[in-house]
Amino acid sequence: MEKLIEVLSDKSALIERSLSLTVEKIEAAIEQRGRCTIALSGGSTPKPLYEALAQQPFPWDKIHVFWGDERYVPPDHPDSNQGMARRAWLDHVSIPAENIHPMPTAAADPALDAQTHENELIQFFQVAPGQIPAFDVILLGMGDDGHTASLFPQTQALKVSDRLVTVGNKDGEPRLTFTIPLINQAQCVIFVVAGENKRQALAQIMADIGDAQAYPSRSIQPQGELWWLLDGAAGKQLTT
Ligand code: 6PG
Repeated sequence: MEKLIEVLSDKSALIERSLSLTVEKIEAAIEQRGRCTIALSGGSTPKPLYEALAQQPFPWDKIHVFWGDERYVPPDHPDSNQGMARRAWLDHVSIPAENIHPMPTAAADPALDAQTHENELIQFFQVAPGQIPAFDVILLGMGDDGHTASLFPQTQALKVSDRLVTVGNKDGEPRLTFTIPLINQAQCVIFVVAGENKRQALAQIMADIGDAQAYPSRSIQPQGELWWLLDGAAGKQLTT
């Protein structure tokens, strides 16, 4: 794994750099493999990045969009990660509908929907049972508690090593999430993190030793590249 950390002056510089890096990685994947598989993060930070990606002249038929996690709500719910990315990006470009692969949330059974999505990933990537697919790009955010995707501190999801998709738990609220092994199989993982409220968790995550159950982002050690793109407010202590 190659770990690269960049601290940008402010949020807009962070989004600008996140855009240039994401574009570079999407184009490289299409160049090398004829397509790009990208998994999106949710939350609020990436929204301007998605709006900027909508302006790019990509060969949209060569891009397949997934999500690294999803709140257990319908896509038209204000909390839906799928809904946010569609409104900010996907509704504004000519990406084929079949290239968009949302996590299902309609079964009223998170474990069943997690299994359904796992089956879709196995089918899409044509992997053998037990084999882990390698996404070209996985975008991640990080909460101020050090969670990423829906891998929250001290939860069962952190221990799941034999699945691709599992049920996360945020204070009793179910989420669907990629597992640590699936994220770590990626060619390129890009964290985009902004805000002073993330500083303390970042210090714990970047420390040489620490508790990955308490700070789950510590477990993200992909076989490919690991990028941490931070704004000054989040990454200040990392540059001193
Ligand atoms: C989600 C995300 C989650 C998010 C972090 C940071 O579903 O909320 O996938 O992991 O990236 O909570 O969220 P903010 O960008 O809103 O700080």
